[in-house]
Amino acid sequence: TAAPQIFKGLAGVPVDYTAISKVNPESNSLLYRGYPVQELAAQCTFEEVAYLLWHGELPNDAELAEFGEFERRHRGLDHQTKRIVDELPLEAHPMDVVRTAVSVIGASDPETPVDTPEANLDKAMRLFAKLPSIVAYDQRRRHGLEFVEPRDDLGYSANFLWQTFGEAPELAVVNAFDVSMILYAEHSFNASTFTARVIASTLSDLYSAVTGAIGALKGPLHGGANEAVMHAFAEIGPGEGGAERAVAWLDAALAEKRKIMGFGHRVYKNGDSRVPTMRDAMERMVEHYERPELLEVYVALEQAMGERKNIKPNLDYPAGPTYHLMGFDTPTFTPLFVASRVVGWTAHVMEQLASNALIRPLSVYNGVDERHVPAK
Ligand code: CMC
Repeated sequence: TAAPQIFKGLAGVPVDYTAISKVNPESNSLLYRGYPVQELAAQCTFEEVAYLLWHGELPNDAELAEFGEFERRHRGLDHQTKRIVDELPLEAHPMDVVRTAVSVIGASDPETPVDTPEANLDKAMRLFAKLPSIVAYDQRRRHGLEFVEPRDDLGYSANFLWQTFGEAPELAVVNAFDVSMILYAEHSFNASTFTARVIASTLSDLYSAVTGAIGALKGPLHGGANEAVMHAFAEIGPGEGGAERAVAWLDAALAEKRKIMGFGHRVYKNGDSRVPTMRDAMERMVEHYERPELLEVYVALEQAMGERKNIKPNLDYPAGPTYHLMGFDTPTFTPLFVASRVVGWTAHVMEQLASNALIRPLSVYNGVDERHVPAK
């Protein structure tokens, strides 16, 4: 009999339908519920996009106001979550902190076992509202700073920056941050979203699905790449002559067969649809903070990677330097991705549950042949 075919890494295997987003590598496009993501980034706020991903339609004014009011009401952190975050060692990676905090929120929510669509949407919206508090608080405690209470007069992104830095953010920075949140929010069956769907498919709860998804996102082949990009920039070093140093760094890294983080993609082989929009936002921040040397390194590395390997940047490549310019600590970059992608994860959990089938693939055994325990 013919050997069964194995689809290593499930590459190229469609496993289910989704109506949430469409990734089209041929046309280099990404649609959220039918809308091109770059149009959403140009014309909508992250709150509107979150509503769209969950409900399938953009909100009207009344719907947006109602959602905004709900979101503002749930932004704070309760005493218990803060206390548990405080107990975690400062050496713990911020992704471990956010994973733990989501788990704590799930453990203390009496609604956790209720899995009606309404209850799950409610949990999703509450996590959406709380994640900025968690991420901001964790960055602050590492600097010995107190929790900053959320501000009701600010939208999601402005408040996120306020809670992190304790200063009213400038509009240009708020806009660039909002664009990054919109671009990170959803990307079909990526590893973390698929993880969330696997967990949901067992009829476990939404918090478990999100906690597992955070674990999957942490890895450098997935969300951890935005942090890793900044480590590469740090290895290249600051100051003049960055372009030459970037090329020398790349050649040395490739000679050591290192993967260059922020480049390549499982689905897009000809460039990531989200990069041009994020690159624009990054360039605006380079100008805003007057840091042209960062752009010099960015361009040199991209060009040399194209020449050496013909591999294009993914979203994490422009996102990393953008968050750095804004003042986020490098290990906090992937938690920012969590705050955004929680929308996609939870939309997928709800979609999975609406027509559930347990996700349980097969494996092909290639271990030792059957044998028997020797008689004693
Ligand atoms: N640096 C160096 N070589 C690479 C890279 C890279 N970033 N990406 C792909 N290649 C090479 C790879 O070594 C392989 O070469 P060969 O055929 O000689 O062995 C070839 O290109 C095909 O790569 P692959 O690993 O089989 O492709 P994949 O589809 O399994 O991997 C990937 C996709 C994203 C895991 C990979 O490109 C990678 O490791 N990139 C760096 C990590 C990264 O930036 N991840 C973020 C992904 S997108 C946004 C997100 O989820 O956060």
